[in-house]
Amino acid sequence: MKVFISGGCGQVGSHVAELFMERGDKVLVVDNFDTGRRLHLPDEDNNLTFVEGSIADKPLIDKLFAEFKPDIVVHTAVSYKDPEDWYSDCLTNAAGGAALIRASIDNNVKRFIYFQTALCYGIDPVESPITLNHPILPDNSSYSISKTPTEQYLKLSGLDYVSFRLANVVGPRNVSGPVPIFYERLKAGKKCFVTEARRDFVFVKDLAKNVIKAADGSGKGEYNFSSGTDVPIIELYDAMVKAMRINVYPEPDVRPLGDDDVASILIDPSKTFEDFGDIEFTPLETIVAEAIAYFDEYGVYGGYTHLKHEEAKDEAK
Ligand SMILES: NC(=O)c1ccc[n+]([C@@H]2O[C@H](COP(=O)([O-])OP(=O)(O)OC[C@H]3O[C@@H](n4cnc5c(N)ncnc54)[C@H](O)[C@@H]3O)[C@@H](O)[C@H]2O)c1
Repeated sequence: MKVFISGGCGQVGSHVAELFMERGDKVLVVDNFDTGRRLHLPDEDNNLTFVEGSIADKPLIDKLFAEFKPDIVVHTAVSYKDPEDWYSDCLTNAAGGAALIRASIDNNVKRFIYFQTALCYGIDPVESPITLNHPILPDNSSYSISKTPTEQYLKLSGLDYVSFRLANVVGPRNVSGPVPIFYERLKAGKKCFVTEARRDFVFVKDLAKNVIKAADGSGKGEYNFSSGTDVPIIELYDAMVKAMRINVYPEPDVRPLGDDDVASILIDPSKTFEDFGDIEFTPLETIVAEAIAYFDEYGVYGGYTHLKHEEAKDEAK
C-alpha cells in the first residue's frame, strides 16, 4: 500500500507513519517543519520518502501525487501556532486541504483520512456529550474556522473518507497544549496556570492504531474520537507532577477560561466504537510517563497553543 502523509513529522503523522512502515507499506511524507521535527521520523529508506515542502504549494502536491500515486492519504498537516496569523492558517488548513483533496480526486486515491478539531462544535455546545448531529459552529475559534473547509470539501468531493474529530491528543512528540507547557514550566520551577476546564486526553498511539484501521477500510465519514470521559485539567497537572517526581507540590494558579476556550469538550464516541470496535484507551499515567520520557530525551519543542487569551500566551512563553 502507498500512503501519502501530510505533516508526517508531527505528533500524529509520525506515529501513523511508523505503523504503516512497520508492516511494509510505502510512505511519502511532506512537512515544512512548522511545528514538526525531522527526528520524529527515521532516515529515508525503501519504505520512506521525505519531502520538505508545504501542502499549500499546489504544483508540488500535484507533482508528488502524479509520481507517487498514493492509495491512501493521511492528512495531518496543520497550522495553528499563531492564533492571529489567520492567513497562514488558511493557507495550510483550507487551501492546503483543498490541494490534497483535488490531487486525490485526480489520482483516484482510495481513502482519505482527515483530523478535525472538536472545536468545530463551537465553544458553547448545546449538548454533552456532543454527538455527531450537533451543528458545526466554528465561529469563535480561528483554528476551527480554518480547519472546517477541508471536512466540507471532503463531503463534496465524492472521495471515500474518514474524518476523526479530536479533542486532546497527547503523548510523545506533543508540541501543543498543556503537556509540553506544564513540563517546561515544572522543569524550570515556574508556576503553571491551570484553567477550570475538563478535557478528554487521548493517547496518540491509540489514535494511530485506528488510523491504520481506517486506511484498511473501517469507517466512513465523520467520527468523534474520544474515550467518552473527561477529567479536570488539574488532574493532568497532578499526574505530571507525580511522574516528574517533584517532591514539594507546586501549587498551580487556577484561572478562568478565555473567551475562545470551552469548559468541557466531551464528544460522544459511540459511532466510533460501533464501526472501529472497542478501543482500549491507555490510562493517563502511562500517557504522561511516555510524554515525559520523550521530553527528557529530546526537549520541548513548541509549547504552542491555538488559544489567544492572555493566560494561554503567558503559558506558551
Ligand atoms: N493534537 C491534538 O490535540 C489535536 C486536536 C484536534 C485536532 N487535531 C488535528 O490532528 C492533526 C494532527 O495534529 P498534531 O497533533 O499531529 O499536530 P502537530 O503540530 O504535531 O503536527 C502537524 C505537522 O504539520 C506540519 N505542517 C504544518 N504546516 C504544514 C504545511 N503547510 N505543509 C506541510 N506540513 C505542514 C508541521 O510541521 C507538523 O509536523 C491536525 O489536523 C490537527 O488539527 C489535533
